[in-house]
Amino acid sequence: MKIKSRSKKIIIGNWKMAPNKMKEAKAMFTSVKKTASTLRGVSTILCPPFVYLSELRKLVGGHRCVIGAQNSSHSDEEAQTGEISSKMLKDVGVLYVIVGHSERRAMMETDEIISKKVRMCLKEGLKVVLCVGEKERDEHGEFTKFIIKQIEDSLLGVNKSLIKDNLIIAYEPLWAIGEKAKATPTPEDFLEVSILIKKTLADMFGRDIAMNTLVLYGGSVNPENAEGFLSDGEADGLLVGRASLYSIKFNKILEIANSIK
Ligand code: PGA
Repeated sequence: MKIKSRSKKIIIGNWKMAPNKMKEAKAMFTSVKKTASTLRGVSTILCPPFVYLSELRKLVGGHRCVIGAQNSSHSDEEAQTGEISSKMLKDVGVLYVIVGHSERRAMMETDEIISKKVRMCLKEGLKVVLCVGEKERDEHGEFTKFIIKQIEDSLLGVNKSLIKDNLIIAYEPLWAIGEKAKATPTPEDFLEVSILIKKTLADMFGRDIAMNTLVLYGGSVNPENAEGFLSDGEADGLLVGRASLYSIKFNKILEIANSIK
């Protein structure tokens, strides 16, 4: 299957549980926005912790650098202490929501819960960035079955008409994420999985949806490896963790993405 990749790259910064101060969050956002707003070839999405969303929303100007959330509740019933609903996110101006990040899955978030989250977000008109990825790779390619099942189960019962243009898949192999990462996949490894993801989506929702769904790479992305994933790996974009906390590094990644034709 031939992969159609859109020209505008999507670069997402997942700040996770950082920084500790609103002042720092504002400074980080402002620095990234300054670069992002000059780049025609990139859509930048910054995903800060929930508590900073409203204030950072006030700093958004234009569509090149917007805000996303790192999570959203699977339910809209009020009795959910500590949860944040997709309705609330929508109301404060969030456009994208990361769903099913491996760090959330490690907190007992099952595919069933994730599929509910996806449905809640899409119902509100939010764009979903669904994270998938295997824990380990085996020689026999069993990990590919794991990825297929993760996609099937995470998108169970999701309305096909809501998915079009509103779903992004981020392939983040767990062994490549964070400080303890063992390695990173090669751009070719990514490309193979990206084709597998599109094929799975085509089987579930048809070719049109599959071709329209962007597939991003995530896991130890930095200014040194970004170009490989975007050009040789044909990634539609990148989901950046640690490097997104350093504006200089993140801005460099944005510039690299902008230079890819
Ligand atoms: P990392 O995180 O870039 O720090 O590996 C990526 C992620 O968890 O989304």
